[in-house]
Amino acid sequence: MTTASLEAKFQEKVDQEVKIEPRDWMPDAYRKTLVRQISQHAHSEIIGMLPEGNWITRAPSLRRKLGLLAKVQDEAGHGLYLYSACETLGVEREDLFEQLNEGTAKYSSIFNYPTLTWADIGSIGWLVDGAAIMNQVPLCRCSYGPYARAMVRVCKEESFHQRQGFEILLTLSKGTDEQKAMLQESVNRWWWPSLMMFGPNDAESPNSAKSMKWKIKRFTNDDLRQKFVDVCYEQAKLLNVTLPDPDLKWNEERGHFDFGPIDWSEFWDVVKGNGPCNSQRLAARNKAHAEGEWVREAAIAFAEKNKQRNIAKAS
Ligand code: 3HC
Repeated sequence: MTTASLEAKFQEKVDQEVKIEPRDWMPDAYRKTLVRQISQHAHSEIIGMLPEGNWITRAPSLRRKLGLLAKVQDEAGHGLYLYSACETLGVEREDLFEQLNEGTAKYSSIFNYPTLTWADIGSIGWLVDGAAIMNQVPLCRCSYGPYARAMVRVCKEESFHQRQGFEILLTLSKGTDEQKAMLQESVNRWWWPSLMMFGPNDAESPNSAKSMKWKIKRFTNDDLRQKFVDVCYEQAKLLNVTLPDPDLKWNEERGHFDFGPIDWSEFWDVVKGNGPCNSQRLAARNKAHAEGEWVREAAIAFAEKNKQRNIAKAS
């Protein structure tokens, strides 16, 4: 079969909602964009543990500490799930780690912002995990089987993350004046970077058109961002918090909330490595990777010994 007919057959499967599996023929460009997106997603989960981990020893109660510990542990699991999904495309996990640790791999810009107060842990749950859910639920219907299946498990846990974040903020919203002020100050810092999580405007997105055609993406960046704004507006009212956007107002004609311009120069600055915490995050990641060397070596040695034992048993 010619490449053209293979591609036509591939697109027909995608259009008929037939999942593409690792052993199926796929265009190189499809494989490449999946490796790009899934590896960056996995890196985001791993780096995403750092801003939250910063508050585990300082959580205000045992209950809050338990919830935060569970959430950070979940993120590690999401990262491992996604690295496994990426490996089905023929890449080595070690290579992905190397790209992240040497700073040549992208991960979500949002994790390069500092967690300055306890309210930030609530804002991350409510806004960051809320945005992640908005973006990840459609990925459960992604055309690539392993990615779609990984997302089903991830989204179930993400909902808990969003709920525990919202509940932290709801508690603060009913607290002292200082706690209410801490809540508002935190939302002021996390609102706009959370909108940036959905990626550049559709007109500036070089990957979206292909991603939509191949049903990796089911909605565009702007569509998901708009859905997120519409949902958050109502939730912010329950928290008695003001979203820091004077242009945020209901547009009857559009049936959505209009919102102000996003500072894309800030976004690209952070993506390029000049965010408040980029170097701190990479340093922490490299330190953890180096300190974890013995664990990886022990796990590989154990797996090898187990393999030899099973071979001996089978012979
Ligand atoms: N941070 C860093 N880089 C970003 C970005 C962001 N928020 N948004 C877009 N970019 C990058 C893209 O990677 C792309 O660069 P590349 O071509 O070198 O990879 C460039 O900006 C142009 O963006 P596009 O819109 O064309 O790229 P995509 O089509 O890949 O769309 C995306 C971007 C919507 C983030 C898409 O990649 C996606 O859906 N990824 C999977 C979900 C994900 O990564 N979610 C966020 C982090 S996970 C998380 O928050 C979990 C929580 O539990 C901690």
